[in-house]
Amino acid sequence: MITKDILNFRTSIKSFDTTKFLTVDQVQNIKDSLRLAPSSYGLQPWSFIEVNDKEKRLELQKAGWGQSQFVDAPLLIVFAVPTDIKENTSKYVEEYMSDMVKVRSVERSSLDGFAQQIIGTIERLTHEEAIAWAQKQAYIALGFGLLTTASLGIDACPIEGFMPDTVDKILGLTEKNLKSTVVLAIGYRLASDHHADLPKVRKSEEKAFLAI
Ligand SMILES: Cc1cc2nc3c(=O)[nH]c(=O)nc-3n(C[C@H](O)[C@H](O)[C@H](O)COP(=O)(O)O)c2cc1C
Repeated sequence: MITKDILNFRTSIKSFDTTKFLTVDQVQNIKDSLRLAPSSYGLQPWSFIEVNDKEKRLELQKAGWGQSQFVDAPLLIVFAVPTDIKENTSKYVEEYMSDMVKVRSVERSSLDGFAQQIIGTIERLTHEEAIAWAQKQAYIALGFGLLTTASLGIDACPIEGFMPDTVDKILGLTEKNLKSTVVLAIGYRLASDHHADLPKVRKSEEKAFLAI
């Protein structure tokens, strides 16, 4: 259960402890949470890039306004979305249909209507809107990653403060038709990170919720 304690424990960590690492099981659990996140039609228009290379991490840090999380977090995941989803819609939909045929043992022909529905939705979007639509899905996966890490007692920081075009060049994403969207740095907080101890500033329930 995601208790209030877990929700309050989850804090966007500025300083990670470089001496503490994650276990293989923990990393697997976090990766599972990203893959199992929901997405519109279940299309999963995302790729998660685990960046382990130290040099690349340093370059990412420069593209990310010097934020230390890029180099200090033991696990760094860049969330990327396809840039050609509008132009190559059928390719992405067929990939998904083929997975569905395998996993659910259904005939491809029984999925024709569903496939057409997805294609119809994307057809109505411009190139930019299709990318923005995919990015919305990536943020859902980000939320899953944030809650999963917190529920495991692991720290994380979502990071949007970076230059996406530069990050795409560093990681060679452009030629893969991918665009970086958001980053999740994962590890353990440094005991001296007092920013992590500050109480949360949130709208009151009355302000945040409207009953109509
Ligand atoms: C999409 C997104 C992008 C963010 N980008 C950054 C970032 O670049 N650097 C950073 O230190 N925190 C970043 N944050 C963390 C927010 O500043 C933080 O969530 C907010 O201040 C509330 O604090 P809390 O997460 O500790 O409760 C980001 C959060 C989100 C959801």
